[in-house]
Amino acid sequence: MTREGVSREVAVATVRAAIDAGVTHLDTAYCYGEHGESEQAIREAVGGGRDAVVIAGKCGIHWKPDPAGSPPRRQVTDGRPERLRAEVEESLRRLGTDRLDLLYLHAPDPAVPIEDSAGELRRLLDAGKARAIGLSNASAKNLARFAAECPLAACQMQFNMLQREIEAEVLPWCVAHGVAVVAYWPLMKGLLAGRMRRGQVFPMSDSRHKYPIFKGVEFERTLDFVDALRPVAERLGHPLANVVLAWTAEQPGITSVLFGATSPDQASDNAGALRCDLDAAARDAIQAAIQARGPVAGRQPA
Ligand SMILES: NC(=O)c1ccc[n+]([C@@H]2O[C@H](COP(=O)([O-])OP(=O)(O)OC[C@H]3O[C@@H](n4cnc5c(N)ncnc54)[C@H](OP(=O)(O)O)[C@@H]3O)[C@@H](O)[C@H]2O)c1
Repeated sequence: MTREGVSREVAVATVRAAIDAGVTHLDTAYCYGEHGESEQAIREAVGGGRDAVVIAGKCGIHWKPDPAGSPPRRQVTDGRPERLRAEVEESLRRLGTDRLDLLYLHAPDPAVPIEDSAGELRRLLDAGKARAIGLSNASAKNLARFAAECPLAACQMQFNMLQREIEAEVLPWCVAHGVAVVAYWPLMKGLLAGRMRRGQVFPMSDSRHKYPIFKGVEFERTLDFVDALRPVAERLGHPLANVVLAWTAEQPGITSVLFGATSPDQASDNAGALRCDLDAAARDAIQAAIQARGPVAGRQPA
């Protein structure tokens, strides 16, 4: 949940605002923040209300410092059982809890048979460290291999109005096997929230600077798409981000939608999506805008 440039105080207030506005599912990961800043902020925000929220964590990706390198630190995928076990113990300590309600393998590690990673998550499930297990950023083939070794409750994937790769194989596989699908990037990292400006340049400290979708013609075309959605939001009387989140949540097979927020206002505004009802005219207008824009290349599952 926390992002670079967001203070601990703001991060905690943002999580609290989300909870106060009706959000019950908090998504974090061992690698959100180089030193577990996200997990620590969630611990502080949740306080004595631990049992009122679902805390979903992830293991299998960590930050590796490389002082001589450029950038000086990088994210490393490591799905070895001993590494996963150690990360989960550390996450539980940071969160101040004895179990994760949902624990994902953050991504398959190409250097480790996925059965080995799945086997460790199964052991963590059996030991009560997690109440349910998920897999993120995975192909249908890897979901099937994982599920053969460990009961699989959820799959977390990139999904939004324009990045819909999962509809080809992953989503049908999950529906057929009764696995919940949790969508991340519903707002395309803020682009679909409707507040970005034409010609906006992202600083090096903002990870969006490295994605082609935030540059040049691709960026401008998506801003045109966002403009096409504005009349829908105006007619429904909701902020644009609410309409985008509500549309995402009602797509067949999607079980939960994770939004990110960098301020308490964003968190409480976005929670308004829970009360945003789309009608047929809104769905038709959104569909027409999606078709006119065309898909945007998203992340390929591993
Ligand atoms: N499994 C995975 O590999 C994976 C990968 C990515 C994310 N996730 C999870 O999914 C969650 C959501 O993803 P995300 O945060 O990357 O993407 P997102 O929800 O599509 O975008 C969130 C960003 O949009 C901006 N925003 C949010 N609400 C806004 C509003 N009302 N008005 C204007 N701007 C708004 C904020 O950035 P600014 O204020 O900086 O513009 C915010 O950080 C994450 O928090 C994380 O838990 C999982």
